[in-house]
Amino acid sequence: MDSLFTPVRVGRYTLPNRLVMAPMTRSRAGFDGTPGELATEYYAQRAGVGLIVTEGTQPSDDAQGYLTTPGIYTPAQIAGWRKITSAVHDKGGHIFIQLMHAGRMSHPDNTPHHRQGVAPSAIAPGTGMFTATGMQDIPTPRALTAEEVRQTVADFRHAARSAIEAGADGIEIHGANAYLVQQFFAPSANTRTDEYGGPIENRARFAIAVATAIAEEIGADRTAIRLSPGTAMWGIDEGAEGPDLYRHLVAELDKLGLAYLHIMHQGNEPLLADIRTLWHQSLILNRPGRPHDQIGADLASGSADLEAYGQLVLANPDFVVRLKANAAMNEADQNTFFGGAARGYVDYPALSA
Ligand SMILES: Cc1cc2nc3c(=O)[nH]c(=O)nc-3n(C[C@H](O)[C@H](O)[C@H](O)COP(=O)(O)O)c2cc1C
Repeated sequence: MDSLFTPVRVGRYTLPNRLVMAPMTRSRAGFDGTPGELATEYYAQRAGVGLIVTEGTQPSDDAQGYLTTPGIYTPAQIAGWRKITSAVHDKGGHIFIQLMHAGRMSHPDNTPHHRQGVAPSAIAPGTGMFTATGMQDIPTPRALTAEEVRQTVADFRHAARSAIEAGADGIEIHGANAYLVQQFFAPSANTRTDEYGGPIENRARFAIAVATAIAEEIGADRTAIRLSPGTAMWGIDEGAEGPDLYRHLVAELDKLGLAYLHIMHQGNEPLLADIRTLWHQSLILNRPGRPHDQIGADLASGSADLEAYGQLVLANPDFVVRLKANAAMNEADQNTFFGGAARGYVDYPALSA
């Protein structure tokens, strides 16, 4: 456990401890994608972790999936994020903005332009999504042309530049959880016959292109990526070749010298061990629902360099203080995860309170 509280080098930064706030969508931004006023307080309260990874943040109008998520591509959005990054820095924290393109996991009622969603192929995810008028089926998306795929890479690049302008320490590409990047990986969502579909090298191409463009734009040591090998939800099935795709992808990404790789672990232990060997920079591991008594175990075993926690940090603004003191943790309230205001957002008590 003690090794959690030792400094670690991540990209161009030295972080004071090895605890990471996992990215969590909270759906409290304005309809123009500007982060809400309370977001500054929310993130500043949690600046004691070594690294904050923000909620998924769209790099363009097309990239939005859910209601009232923030963006990072307009001047107003940049100004909104600047308040957050300054407040986190004032508290000695570090913050990477997660760039999330939802791809087909999007409802037209939720996006600024209300257009049909975009994806590798015109295949619906077969699930519903919350909108202003309640749950609705997600419609079939439109397949991106090859030219539009390249434009999407350019959108990511522009958003990464905007994140740096907003004072972020870096960006994490959301390549996990069934969103656009992972949709390219899965034959169930990607039936393209061009250079972005078919063999694993082609299905990995979009992710590598996005990472390469962003690394070029803001520096590899401020660029990171999150992956969740083996995700099986919302119509994502990576097939028998899935693990090989990740071995290829991680080896290629490793050549870029990115700040870190963040794995949201889905349970394939041999693949995780291979990734640990293939990847030479910092590895952040998030094991969903990890029991409290296992905190620090992946650091101790050498499986990871940092450990990420979602709900525990959401519910405990002073997560690091509590861990050090071996104090009880607040429980996260699922009813206030998405939308709403202060309740369940900035009112979780710290120990001193
Ligand atoms: C409310 C909520 C929102 C989430 N939003 C995101 C997101 O925007 N991007 C992402 O990569 N993961 C997201 N996740 C997944 C978390 O980052 C994390 O992987 C998950 O909660 C499991 O870790 P935990 O058991 O420590 O909470 C979200 C999870 C929760 C609970």
